[in-house]
Amino acid sequence: MAHISASVYTSHVPAIGAAIDLGKTGEPYWKPVFQGYEFSRLWLREHTPDAIVLVFNDHATAFSLDMIPTFAIGTAALYHPADEGWGPRPVPVVMGHPELAAHIAQSVIQQDFDLTIVNKMDVDHGLTVPLSLLCGQPLAWPCPVIPLAVNVVQYPAPSGRRCFELGRAIARALAQYDEPLNVQIWGTGGMSHQLQGPRAGLINREFDNAFLDRLIADPAGLAQLPHIDYVREAGSEGIEMVMWLIARGAMADAAGGARPRVAHRFYHVPASNTAVGHLILEQGSV
Ligand code: DHB
Ligand code: FE
Repeated sequence: MAHISASVYTSHVPAIGAAIDLGKTGEPYWKPVFQGYEFSRLWLREHTPDAIVLVFNDHATAFSLDMIPTFAIGTAALYHPADEGWGPRPVPVVMGHPELAAHIAQSVIQQDFDLTIVNKMDVDHGLTVPLSLLCGQPLAWPCPVIPLAVNVVQYPAPSGRRCFELGRAIARALAQYDEPLNVQIWGTGGMSHQLQGPRAGLINREFDNAFLDRLIADPAGLAQLPHIDYVREAGSEGIEMVMWLIARGAMADAAGGARPRVAHRFYHVPASNTAVGHLILEQGSV
């Protein structure tokens, strides 16, 4: 069986990607952001998994108002970095894991989750910025990545509760895989931010830190939080944080197993318009 060894949570602010690509990580504005990921880059080098299930949202890049899958799993062998208006980011192509992705699709759909199967997709900053934050600027990403895209751009978005349940279903799928793979699951997006309207620029440190506390200690309770609370407290784009609950639901304690260990926690304001949050949870014995 495959198993989840750790979950990683991080914001995906596009300006962070630009800072890396343009060599600005040492500038005073950016330095404190990247310092928060120094531990994580070393950690990932020491804990490189066989595959990463990377939960992210597409920002009207691969999908548009023409077609809006709520949950979409990438089953392709590779994914190109998307052109979001400034040319594709100068980062490696993302190698997929078609066998494991197809298995997860099979198992999770049979567990009554409606996943859209995506065989061709360019991946935007939602997926590539988290990889850059934890891997730096390698010639190739350290392992295959299975993109799991969640619609949090166009209402209706899935509830936190359903995201948490999807994570649990993914963990069950991995337990039935016939290779002993070490898999990480990453939840990305957030934390509080609003990019539009009269409240543009909204940041809520108190809400974000309480969210991190509960994500660690009471994820099932946190999963009950309704949409309106995310939007009111964390801004219209703060709804991206429901994706963190997919990663959290895949940890062993969500199925009655051992609680994960906090390996790293970081929070910083601001990066562009966004509060940056980051967490690494390691699974001990299951
Ligand atoms: C910003 C943050 C995002 O999550 C995003 O998708 C786009 C922009 C920002 O802070 O500028
Ligand atoms: Fe975003």
